[in-house]
Amino acid sequence: MIRFSLLLGLLALVPSCWSTSIPVPPLLLSPSCNDSQVLSMADLALQGINEDRKEGYMFSLNRVADVREHHQTGSASMYYLTLDVLETNCHVLSKKRWKDCGTRTLHTTVYGQCKAIFYVNLPKRILHLPAYNCTVRPVSRWKIVRMCPDCPIPINVSRPGVSEAVSESLEKINKEVAVGKKFYLFQVTQASSQWVYGPSYFVEYLITEAPCIIPLTDSKKCLEPPADSKPVGICKGSLSKIHEIQHVSGTCEFFQTQPTSAPGSHPSEHQVPQQQAFPSTAAPLEERPKGSVQFLPELVDEKNEGDQEKEPFIDFPVHMDLTTAPLGEVLHLPSSFMLQKEEMPVVIPFPERSRSDKCPGPAENSNSLILPP
Ligand SMILES: *[C@@H]1O[C@H](CO)[C@@H](O)[C@H](O)[C@H]1NC(C)=O
Ligand SMILES: *[C@@H]1O[C@H](CO)[C@@H](O)[C@H](O)[C@H]1NC(C)=O
Ligand SMILES: *[C@@H]1O[C@H](CO)[C@@H](O)[C@H](O)[C@H]1NC(C)=O
Repeated sequence: MIRFSLLLGLLALVPSCWSTSIPVPPLLLSPSCNDSQVLSMADLALQGINEDRKEGYMFSLNRVADVREHHQTGSASMYYLTLDVLETNCHVLSKKRWKDCGTRTLHTTVYGQCKAIFYVNLPKRILHLPAYNCTVRPVSRWKIVRMCPDCPIPINVSRPGVSEAVSESLEKINKEVAVGKKFYLFQVTQASSQWVYGPSYFVEYLITEAPCIIPLTDSKKCLEPPADSKPVGICKGSLSKIHEIQHVSGTCEFFQTQPTSAPGSHPSEHQVPQQQAFPSTAAPLEERPKGSVQFLPELVDEKNEGDQEKEPFIDFPVHMDLTTAPLGEVLHLPSSFMLQKEEMPVVIPFPERSRSDKCPGPAENSNSLILPP
């Protein structure tokens, strides 16, 4: 209420101070969350988030939960986006487009919300993501078990059985795929297990590689990968024991920069260089967005009644503020964008949800188990 009257008071002042440098109070538009322009901004913002991340799986857009638009000088706009996201089955290092990635099966879904500030200046051909923050959680396990008691359930990667599944499948991959080199485990990224006449483990892990000394066929004459080696691909493996018979599987997908001719491997099909809408990780630090992803444990359904004094529980808390100044402040964009001083956009504290009937937009997957409230 206080803020509202302050805003009105300042609005009354606007005409008299138009020519001075006193900032004009922000007038925010609330476009529809199903608007095609908004959807393409959300697409690009999420692409920028995925490209900035170093670990985990890419996010896909489930729906635009909210959007506010703040017009800027020079036919530009600053968008304040709240996006409901789902983890895909592509690792961020694969550098694919999130639209080319599939989502996970319901029982292994990780879902959550991102807030992003996105600056668009079409006359100057600028698409810039100054900041984002996301919070995600795995789908509630007990709800899944109730629905599907036999589905594979995500487990902690340090649980027993996981490392055996990794080493058995990696050994199979090394026998069948590696030529002149050997693959080594870099990091286990995901694990799940299931009981079907015996235990089954499903794992995903990043691999690194090292060359082998001639003769190439002798896998014992391989070097250890250097300590600073980078992941070259991601593998899926499984190990199951059914009626005492062990079954092992393993396949890998190699990342784009990885020149590979290994038979049986699946080099990335999306070799076409993407539009460089965003600076790569090699870009100067000032052009990279500020942001991170917070992973929280699954939600447990406990309504703490009688505890009204406490602050309301927020399922997906996402803190996102580039400024705390109520009227905002000038956001200094990198000089490579060639904006004059007076063309620099203004950024304001991340606005409250618009609560308009045009938001949230339609969801790709509207299952209530994976939609943030
Ligand atoms: C997995 O287990 C390890 C060791 O028990 C623990 O430190 C880690 O926090 C667990 N990870 C998750 C995601 O629960
Ligand atoms: C993103 O979240 C982190 C942790 O909650 C916080 O420290 C950081 O300031 C946030 N970033 C922005 C740009 O608000
Ligand atoms: C969203 O927009 C699309 C295309 O404009 C339209 O077909 C669809 O019905 C809209 N959905 C909602 C929920 O408004």
